[in-house]
Order: sequence, then C-alpha cells, then structure tokens
Amino acid sequence: MKSIAIIYGSSTENTKNAAEKIAEHLSDYSPTLVDIYDGEEEPFLAHDVLILGASTWGVKDLQDDWSDFYHRFEKLDLGGKTVALFGLGDSFIYPDSFVDAIGIVYETLVEKGCTIIGQVSPEGYHFDYSRALVNGVFVGLPLDDDNDADLTDERIEKWVESLKPHLD
Ligand SMILES: Cc1cc2nc3c(=O)[nH]c(=O)nc-3n(C[C@H](O)[C@H](O)[C@H](O)COP(=O)(O)O)c2cc1C
Repeated sequence: MKSIAIIYGSSTENTKNAAEKIAEHLSDYSPTLVDIYDGEEEPFLAHDVLILGASTWGVKDLQDDWSDFYHRFEKLDLGGKTVALFGLGDSFIYPDSFVDAIGIVYETLVEKGCTIIGQVSPEGYHFDYSRALVNGVFVGLPLDDDNDADLTDERIEKWVESLKPHLD
C-alpha cells in the first residue's frame, strides 16, 4: 500500500472540507492531511502519492497560501510521484476561469515528470473555459460548493473510487 499525503490550501474552508472528506474515504490508507499554509516541504517529498487541492481566486490566481508557497513548490523534485488534483471553484460567477488552479498546478507537475491520475469528464459541469480542461477532460476533480454543493459528496466518492486502483 502506498503512502499518501493530501495537501490543500483553502481561504474559506471549502477546499479544506473537501480534503477532509477525501481523507475519510481513504481512511484505510491512513493519509497524512496537510494545510499548505504550514509551508512544509517534507510532506511533498515523504509520500508516494500526493493528492493536491487548490481553489482558484481569479484568472491565473491560486489561493493565497498556494501562491505564497509556489516558488518553493516549483523547485521541489517530485519526478516519479503519482499525483491527483482537486480544486474548488465557482462556475457561475467565473465561467471563463473555472477551477483554473487545477490546470496551473497540473502544468507544473507535468514539467516535473509526475504521473497524473484522477481525470474527470466535463459532463455535468457548466462553464465556458477552464485551464484544467486538457484534451477534453479535467485533469483533476472540479468541485463547486458555491453552486453545486449538493453534488460535492457524490463527486468526491466517485473520484476517490477511481483513484484506488492506483494506490495499492
Ligand atoms: C475574489 C474571488 C475570485 C475568484 N475567482 C475564481 C475563478 O477565477 N475561478 C473559479 O473557478 N472560482 C473563483 N472563485 C471561487 C472560489 O474558488 C470558490 O469560492 C472556492 O470554493 C473557494 O475555496 P476555498 O474556500 O477553499 O479557498 C473566486 C472567488 C472569489 C471570492
């Protein structure tokens, strides 16, 4: 069984809540749950699988704690890691930059040589543009607690199940 870290940044606790739910679904794996606000590099390096959560705060803008950490994140040697991404956004007010943060982090991880798991079909989401949509699929799990909170639990559960074959 692989060791897992769930690392998130969250300003109004939506991503934090999602991270905690993901951790509950993965309790058999005893994941380490980390707030990126703590500024620790060790959780990124010490685990086989990283599940990274970032909300979007404006076009090209990561959540504040992710922004503060990003220059260090870019320097981390994460080559060979398996990574799954999730992100909170608002598809109604920000339909042209919906969950862009997932796309931004994804691009950095691809440059580092990570294996990305947990792609998601855009079916059922309503938006015009997302940097997280690559070749017709989301490269991580988009969640929208501002408009579709009633779908969050179901989306998380389905997504975590899709990750499990990669975690043993
Ligand atoms: C000023 C502001 C800008 C935002 N910009 C975006 C955006 O560009 N794209 C998007 O999908 N969501 C955007 N959002 C929505 C947040 O990402 C969303 O509320 C999310 O749930 C916040 O998660 P957090 O509490 O974990 O930080 C924005 C929200 C605010 C208040």
